[in-house]
Amino acid sequence: MKTFIIGIAGGVGSLLARELIARGDDVSGLVRRPEQQEALGGTGVRGELGDLTEISAAELAKLIGPADALVFSAGAGGTGKEATTAIDGDGVVKAIEAARFAGVTRFALVSVFPEAWRERNLGEQFDHYIAVKKSADIALTQSGLDWIILRPAVLLNRPGQGTVALGPAQRHEEISRADVAATLAELLHEPRITGQILELTAGDTPIPDAVRANVRDR
Ligand SMILES: NC(=O)c1ccc[n+]([C@@H]2O[C@H](COP(=O)([O-])OP(=O)(O)OC[C@H]3O[C@@H](n4cnc5c(N)ncnc54)[C@H](OP(=O)(O)O)[C@@H]3O)[C@@H](O)[C@H]2O)c1
Repeated sequence: MKTFIIGIAGGVGSLLARELIARGDDVSGLVRRPEQQEALGGTGVRGELGDLTEISAAELAKLIGPADALVFSAGAGGTGKEATTAIDGDGVVKAIEAARFAGVTRFALVSVFPEAWRERNLGEQFDHYIAVKKSADIALTQSGLDWIILRPAVLLNRPGQGTVALGPAQRHEEISRADVAATLAELLHEPRITGQILELTAGDTPIPDAVRANVRDR
């Protein structure tokens, strides 16, 4: 299976690349800096140079090539409203267009729980982030592509436990980036999961079982 990851140098993206390579997949993705491209080369992953805010959808489609799946796990990471709109919002719309140009039908988007940390009143910038993420979800659900939206809870840098809680509605708690990546890899390899928004947090169900339990036409 050939997968292209937008955000491949990031926390979730790099762990996902590792998971997919371990399965014997062909993995490439978008990077902004030549040194990231070099570092990925050593792991068997192809990094394609480009900035999501500057590249056109047609140019991005050329970098994606004839892939089986496109994953979007990029994000502005709290660097400001403008960057959030450009990357988490417009970037997803551009990636959807690029997927169409490239003939890639399967598209997995890493999104966020709409209620994430809302009780903390984190301010206008965070409210904007949540609104932009929701708009991107809407764009993908209306794209006509074979889509999956994964909404992880708060992301932690800790070892994966190999077990999760996954479903259409989960409590907003926390989860390791490693378990998010392992779940995404399993979802990409389960073609019966399509057109579904799934929320993900730490839990007790082994990842392959959690994914299988969400197949609707078993
Ligand atoms: N943090 C949380 O608790 C949380 C919770 C739920 C969902 N999420 C979402 O989960 C996703 C993955 O999170 P993460 O922590 O893995 O993200 P991350 O480590 O911040 O990685 C984001 C990646 O996006 C890339 N990127 C940013 N702007 C770009 C641009 N203009 N062109 C190309 N690439 C660009 C970054 O590239 P560089 O390496 O060049 O900077 C980076 O590799 C994000 O969409 C985030 O919104 C986060």
